[in-house]
Amino acid sequence: MGIETWTPRLPVPHGPPPASAGETAASPYPLIPDWDELEQEVRGCTRCPLHQTRTQTVFGVGNWNARWLFIGEAPGESEDLQGEPFVGRAGQLLNEMIKAIGLTREEVYIANVLKCRPPKNRDPSVEEATACESHLRSQVALIKPAIIIAVGRVAAQNLLQSATPIGKLRGVVHDYQSIPLVVTYHPAYLLRSQTEKRRAWEDLKLARRTLSGPR
Ligand code: URA
Repeated sequence: MGIETWTPRLPVPHGPPPASAGETAASPYPLIPDWDELEQEVRGCTRCPLHQTRTQTVFGVGNWNARWLFIGEAPGESEDLQGEPFVGRAGQLLNEMIKAIGLTREEVYIANVLKCRPPKNRDPSVEEATACESHLRSQVALIKPAIIIAVGRVAAQNLLQSATPIGKLRGVVHDYQSIPLVVTYHPAYLLRSQTEKRRAWEDLKLARRTLSGPR
């Protein structure tokens, strides 16, 4: 990424889901504690209208035992076509960011707040994010990462349930489900604003320090 490499909410519109003991505070949907079942559930999901316009769902990719979990916003056009998160130009830069912390794409896990592409890449609605929330929370519960990187404003604001601008969310270690969470800029933004790459590197260093420091 042009930097040194480090070596070593609301009701859901589509009918009420069943109540269950596994419900989360924010979402009425139960968590699914099994990868195959969860993947199948996501593949057939019709909880929000995005299922009508998607080519396919984009579940997530990477190491089920990853220490680092990167969470972006939602699939774009390339991701919708290929069924994998961050495969376009922004994805290539995300790969470089991962390389900069001494890891590979295969060693981390990459997911999105939404599993389906919003038409014309618009921001996810509150209803869509709420409908999809339990999928992501299930992934987090299964992976049990040591750290979460919220990639971009939309991911950060959704994960932290905050309307604070990204510039103010950066530089602080937050908490998501008792897991430290660090916010950084979206690689699509970094492609347009090269000067912010230095700040993204600062974010990754904060995350790395958080992992190595006392907890
Ligand atoms: N942007 C995201 O936030 N996620 C993707 O998967 C692709 C682009």
